[in-house]
Amino acid sequence: MHRLVKESGVLDQNSVYAYLMIGEHFGATSVVAEIESELAGAVLALPSLRRRDTLFIWQVVVAERARGLGLATRLLRECASRARDLRLKFIEATVTPSNLPSQRLFRSFGERYGASLEVSVGFTEDDFGDEKHEAEELYRIGILEATKGLS
Ligand SMILES: CC(C)(COP(=O)(O)OP(=O)(O)OC[C@H]1O[C@@H](n2cnc3c(N)ncnc32)[C@H](O)[C@@H]1OP(=O)(O)O)[C@@H](O)C(=O)NCCC(=O)NCCS
Repeated sequence: MHRLVKESGVLDQNSVYAYLMIGEHFGATSVVAEIESELAGAVLALPSLRRRDTLFIWQVVVAERARGLGLATRLLRECASRARDLRLKFIEATVTPSNLPSQRLFRSFGERYGASLEVSVGFTEDDFGDEKHEAEELYRIGILEATKGLS
């Protein structure tokens, strides 16, 4: 996962330890995909303890060779299914205004579910202090219903 994120070139690179921790503690809500036994995609997600009805999607990444085939959408769908099993009703993610593929991914996912999408301020540039970092918009999608999102 650490390598996939590094190779994406656009996501924040966290330590190997961070990915080990997510796998260890949030493996039930995070999903990976393999193609020919090689990791091809991952959605790292954790239930929010602040908004108890929400699964927070921390990072979504698909290897370049596997993009444009609907893999991220399938991984998100699996996450949503697991979220529903935990009685969670919303997913949230933060997206930078310049990341069009990511915006499209979440918008299109919400549309497939017939779910509402609310966009609000996630983190401002100032929140990142001295690190030059784009603002992050907060996408909140729900309500996730079992019968939807299957197409
Ligand atoms: C964003 C990313 C995960 C999409 O993965 P993917 O498997 O190619 O996505 P999908 O094939 O499931 O496509 C999902 C939707 O996004 C659209 N999309 C995907 N790549 C796109 C691109 N480069 N430009 C515009 N739209 C794009 C697809 O057309 C699809 O929309 P549709 O359902 O309306 O047709 C992948 O490009 C990636 O790993 N990017 C680098 C990391 C990143 O930015 N992650 C997201 C932020 S956490």
